[in-house]
Amino acid sequence: DTLIELSETMPKTELHLHIEGTFEPEQMFAIAQRNQVKLKYDTVDALKAAYQFTNLQDFLDLYYQGMSVLLHEADFYDLTMAYLEKVHSENVVHVEIFFDPQGHLSRDIPFDVQIKGIYNALQDAQLKWGMTSKLIMSFLRHLSEESAFETLEHAKPFLNWIDGVGLDSSELGHPPEKFLRVFEACKNLGLKVTAHAGEEGPPDYVWQAINQIGVDRIDHGNRALEDVKLIEEIKKRDLTLTVCPLSNLKLCVVNDMKDHPIKHMLKLGLHATVNSDDPAYFGGYMNDNYASLIRRTGINKEELLQLAKNGITGSWMKNTTKEKHL
Ligand code: HPA
Ligand code: ZN
Repeated sequence: DTLIELSETMPKTELHLHIEGTFEPEQMFAIAQRNQVKLKYDTVDALKAAYQFTNLQDFLDLYYQGMSVLLHEADFYDLTMAYLEKVHSENVVHVEIFFDPQGHLSRDIPFDVQIKGIYNALQDAQLKWGMTSKLIMSFLRHLSEESAFETLEHAKPFLNWIDGVGLDSSELGHPPEKFLRVFEACKNLGLKVTAHAGEEGPPDYVWQAINQIGVDRIDHGNRALEDVKLIEEIKKRDLTLTVCPLSNLKLCVVNDMKDHPIKHMLKLGLHATVNSDDPAYFGGYMNDNYASLIRRTGINKEELLQLAKNGITGSWMKNTTKEKHL
């Protein structure tokens, strides 16, 4: 159908993507073998069969297991390049990707090994295809404030490669205010700030992200819809929501794609965007996310184009002010 075709061919941005969440089972087994690491699952099919989640934590348990086979700079490079090749084929022209340094530092993989592999792949994608990118270092919120501060110290020699910081992992019980001082330090270093909020956590966590952390954007934000005043605040501040439809379905944030609130978000005037989060685990990359919305929620052409435009204005590229693009 023509809307699907338009969604595939139009230039797109991706603003919510965890590079460790692009680890396809086939590549995971290949890298495990070359590193002589043993996985908990014997076959690709056995691993894929485990991708049945009832909540965020179910997924995170497998996500941290999967990334544990990444040991060398080449592993991080190959992981990142495989993702960039995939989305280049889907007409994604700009990406802003998260990495989780604490998920690797905890296994004694040095910060420079991680970031050199990822950054070199991003540079090569720009040279090869003109694909532009931003790199976002994300703090694991189930760990301590002290651990986040230590991670920031590791990052300091590489600040010219890092555009912003984020906050991910287990949301419930780990509100944004736990990291208030860390984010303050990051802002003082000139970093952009975003945070996962309102995926499983209550509207209050979104308020905290806005009022206490002072985020430049909100990752997910679904549960903000429960609070009318919060919706108004997000609009007043022009904050972009990086929404992830297939992720929401897989992690049971929504029960059926036909009930996904993205159409409603647009109707309210919220700057929603479409993103894939952890595509290797959630069953689809950028184009699959759009296709699923088109088939199941009945978004129209105008809404489709609005979502793509929001992905440009909500990005951290320079010179993409609303005046210029809308
Ligand atoms: N939410 C929280 N933490 C994450 C996610 C997510 O969707 N993906 C990877 N880490
Ligand atoms: Zn995420």
